[in-house]
Amino acid sequence: KRAGAKQVEEFPETLSDFSVSYRDESLFMEDVSLERIVDAVGTPAYVYSQAHIQAQYKKLAEAIKAVDYRVHYAVKANSNLALLKLLGNLGAGYDIVSGGELSRVLSAQGDPGSVIFSGVGKATHELDLALKAGIECFNVESAGELDRLAERAALLSVVAPVAIRFNPNVDAKTHPYISTGLQENKFGVLKDQALALYRRAAESEHLRVYGIACHIGSQIAEPTPLIRALEEMLSLRRELAQQGIEIDHLDLGGGFGVRYRDEPEFDVGLWGREVARLLNGTGLRISIEPGRFLTANAGILLSRVEYLKEAVEDAKSFAVVDAAMNDLIRPALYGAWHEVVPVCNDLQGDRLPWDIVGPICESGDFIAKQRTLTLKQGKLLAILSSGAYGATLASNYNTRGRAPEVLVHKDNWRLVRRRENLQDQLITELP
Ligand code: LLP
Repeated sequence: KRAGAKQVEEFPETLSDFSVSYRDESLFMEDVSLERIVDAVGTPAYVYSQAHIQAQYKKLAEAIKAVDYRVHYAVKANSNLALLKLLGNLGAGYDIVSGGELSRVLSAQGDPGSVIFSGVGKATHELDLALKAGIECFNVESAGELDRLAERAALLSVVAPVAIRFNPNVDAKTHPYISTGLQENKFGVLKDQALALYRRAAESEHLRVYGIACHIGSQIAEPTPLIRALEEMLSLRRELAQQGIEIDHLDLGGGFGVRYRDEPEFDVGLWGREVARLLNGTGLRISIEPGRFLTANAGILLSRVEYLKEAVEDAKSFAVVDAAMNDLIRPALYGAWHEVVPVCNDLQGDRLPWDIVGPICESGDFIAKQRTLTLKQGKLLAILSSGAYGATLASNYNTRGRAPEVLVHKDNWRLVRRRENLQDQLITELP
């Protein structure tokens, strides 16, 4: 590469897939300059594009419109109230995994009747909260949970709608930490146990069999594993019917992969056609629980270069930035790749391979490794594809406050979460 060449030629030509684009040398999200946002809220900061979320939602809805479906947004991907509201307005229900997430949905005026409660370890107080709210369905993962749910429903004099989370033993071919549909994973129950749990649920006067649920993993590259899981669900449904238990609702889970680097986005069109083919004539209604697909590439994390530590001899060059693993843990936890581009693409000079690292006292605190960029102190960077499992996985490690979140819509933007201050952090402690 020529030294001093414009960097823009290095970056993915399709930056728009990541909700950003250069206007002259300046990076924009929709019609808002990202420098302008930094001037107002500082760094690190998360910024989300409303248009991207809407477009992704439409893409999914279009792909699956031949069947009777409902999208239940997986709240854990990004639980900001503004995003929950936005998705609710688009017609989404919600997939939650805690009482806290249910409270968020309610705070965002979400309909409790559109809520599916997933998760392997629901606590009694969480079951109670959801029973009182009157949610759509509990996706039950064990015999103990089924019994506890029936008990709590009896105490509250209600009937709980249930699906059993079925583990189809299908390999989602993704990172082992986010693979959930294999026998070795803690999630769901295998077929024989599922049959037994359905019989038990059918006999309980405080449980109503609502459907079959399945979620085999996240960041799934292509439809085949999801289609295989659906075939397994249909076979379980046939066996249930033979035992007199009729099922008219399937929850196919989430997991649709997105582009982080150069991988293609999950082909929802192909997936939708396969689902429609398999469901044809069954009269089944389905739910899907996408998280990442809707929000990952809607979001970026803005960060500023604090210091440059240039390589001496064979050592590496480090760019120390003000975002860290407490803001975005995906690189440290999964070895995930996030594209990094300058907010102002104006530097002429030597391009060097940099390790982009945070200020946290761990060598695992890195955002990206060996990225060829022209950098100087104070430069602003955008860390792309950070809209899902970014802010929701943030922590206070090293007593760092959580970053603010901004929602961009056309030429407007607004703060949807302020920066966490020290007082926010210390208030719960009792010295
Ligand atoms: N439904 C259930 C039951 C889930 O457990 C998940 C994600 C989803 C839906 C949504 O999956 P998605 O459509 O977003 O792939 N922190 C990891 C991802 C963890 C996914 C956990 N479960 C990451 O940053 O890659």
